[in-house]
Amino acid sequence: MGNQLFDQQFMHGGDYNPDQWLAYPEILQKDLAYMQQAHVNTVTLGVFAWSALEPQEGVYRFDWLDRVFDQIHSIGGKVILATPSGGRPQWLSQKYPEVNRTNAQGQKHSHGFRHNHCYSSPIYREKVTQINQQLAKRYGKHPALAMWHISNEYSGECFCSYCQENWRRWLQKKYGDLATLNHAWWTSFWSGTYSDWSQVLPPSPLGEHKVHGMDLDWKRFVTDRTIDFYLHECTPIRQLTPDIPVTTNFMAEGHATQDFIPLEGIDYSKFARHVDIVSWDSYPDWNNNFESLAATAMKSAYVHDQYWSLKKQPFLVMECTPSFVNWHSINKAKKPGVHQLSAMQQIAHGSDSTLYFQWRQSRGNSEKFHGAVVGHDDSTENRVFKEVAAYGKRLEKIKEIQGTTRKKAVAILFDWESNWALKRGGGFGRPTRRYPQTLQEHYRYFWEQDIAVDILTPEQDFSDYQLVIAPMLYLMTAETMAKLCQYTEAGGTLISSYFSGMVNETDLLYLGGLPQPLRGLLGINVLELETLFDTEHNQVVFQGQPFETRDYSAIIEAETAEVLGEYQADFYQGTPAITKNAFGAGTAYYLAARTNYDFFEQFYASLARELSLAEERIAHANPEVSIQGRISPERTYFFIMNFSEKEQTLDLIKEVVDLETNQAVPPTVTLAPYEVRVVYFNN
Ligand code: GLA
Ligand code: ZN
Repeated sequence: MGNQLFDQQFMHGGDYNPDQWLAYPEILQKDLAYMQQAHVNTVTLGVFAWSALEPQEGVYRFDWLDRVFDQIHSIGGKVILATPSGGRPQWLSQKYPEVNRTNAQGQKHSHGFRHNHCYSSPIYREKVTQINQQLAKRYGKHPALAMWHISNEYSGECFCSYCQENWRRWLQKKYGDLATLNHAWWTSFWSGTYSDWSQVLPPSPLGEHKVHGMDLDWKRFVTDRTIDFYLHECTPIRQLTPDIPVTTNFMAEGHATQDFIPLEGIDYSKFARHVDIVSWDSYPDWNNNFESLAATAMKSAYVHDQYWSLKKQPFLVMECTPSFVNWHSINKAKKPGVHQLSAMQQIAHGSDSTLYFQWRQSRGNSEKFHGAVVGHDDSTENRVFKEVAAYGKRLEKIKEIQGTTRKKAVAILFDWESNWALKRGGGFGRPTRRYPQTLQEHYRYFWEQDIAVDILTPEQDFSDYQLVIAPMLYLMTAETMAKLCQYTEAGGTLISSYFSGMVNETDLLYLGGLPQPLRGLLGINVLELETLFDTEHNQVVFQGQPFETRDYSAIIEAETAEVLGEYQADFYQGTPAITKNAFGAGTAYYLAARTNYDFFEQFYASLARELSLAEERIAHANPEVSIQGRISPERTYFFIMNFSEKEQTLDLIKEVVDLETNQAVPPTVTLAPYEVRVVYFNN
């Protein structure tokens, strides 16, 4: 094991809960030996250890953690130390009930299990500061300490009186006076005008609330409150250990469905500004019964790319399972080889770690059947352990890739706020909005073609990308419109679509059709947005071929734009469905209809040719084999990943060397099912 975590070493290891095993010293001894066998170099400690660290108020017990720190250090390992606020001790909830969360109905939670505390409670904040201070003082200089892991999977909201007070203060700061708030929220509707700040409550729990601007602001407030709590946790840590990097683990959602997407509830683009390194907990549904492995891999790749793009820097996979989870209704093990494949995919997309939840399977309670590196059999001979160890060994062989960057010419824009507004909007097709899922359909083309993509927010700088894909940007600020115009004018290629530029930042409709900057940029006006039943379809002819449409048809008229495709049926038959507008040195396309994937294949293939997007490829694309690259100043690396159950053969178009064997790779590569090869060429 290396000494310096960031010194060309991928982190391999994960959540380790010795606090559950303090009465089993022989288990703790074995853990150390097993970790070495599994090529583990990093453990995350203390995530849920508050009651072991502070069994009574103000009484701290660090002896056990001191021992574990020293033991991990003795085997050359590193510690990611968590602050324990994700799971409070019983005494704290009992003595200070205010620390428990209040739900939207105004009911105070009882202690419950974890993750249900209030972000505003002064007492909770004080207690968190105290324990964090103790941890930072005690372990801040320990040579094994590599990083802070603040709390765990922040999420949720609280409606207690403290939080309500903060909500009103947040609004007062944002709007200044009630007249501005009343206008921004259009409260004249249904007689909702506020005449006093004390009338301003959080969104009503009964679902009958009607103020969309309020819903949007509440979500912004929840993000800000969460970040505020996180920053509060960080204060003593930043003071006492200014050189230790800080992260908190982000999440994805849509598990056990076909919708695996980044978490929607918290605006991570804001949160990411406050962490030193982005990390996330990656649980795609490998080996499910509803889609191909390649389909799962594409969505997993998308989430990795989005989390890469938050800082455009290597991130960490803070949790993943070596085998199965416990929280689906059917919990399927990864098939032999899939762990290595899915974990290599993390690295390929820019992760500098593979960390597991969990090192050792818990003996009791809700996670006792969650996958772990060491199972209840306490054996290093089982399949899962052996696969983890083999993977850890491989990571050591490719460690020179750690810390390297990625290069991308295509960006997709995603906006958390626009997503919230669009989902809340009512009207049109309620279940068919599917904004992030639609972005994934665009993304799929590039993933299948091995063209790397960043997923940025409109606030980020996208001026350097050759292609910017920004469909369904429903909420658009004047700044975003100006940025899209500047980007295109300077020579960029922009993709826009139905459901774009409809509302401002408080969810008020723009009046007078498509707002002017977009109208000039796209060379069209939007007349109507027609919604289709799920059994209803139209057709668009594009490049001489018919493509079926579904869900939405914007009915538009072309002003300066060239019409590339027209609707074939219905009352808007013969009107434009696909347009292209020259704008400055660039081009802006508008996709008025929602189409199936076959259209994207055709459409983006032409664009990819025109913009030479596939030039950096090392092989002809195969949709079941994904190739993703990372770059150092000296070398360009590629992960060639077979996301299929069958053998695949690839023809290389560039000469590359196998990083693990240092042998030149022959021009035809055969990959076994699930196989991953790591290759490079010198720049
Ligand atoms: C989350 C949590 C972990 C654990 C895993 C189980 O990611 O952070 O503590 O509960 O889920 O998959
Ligand atoms: Zn609260």
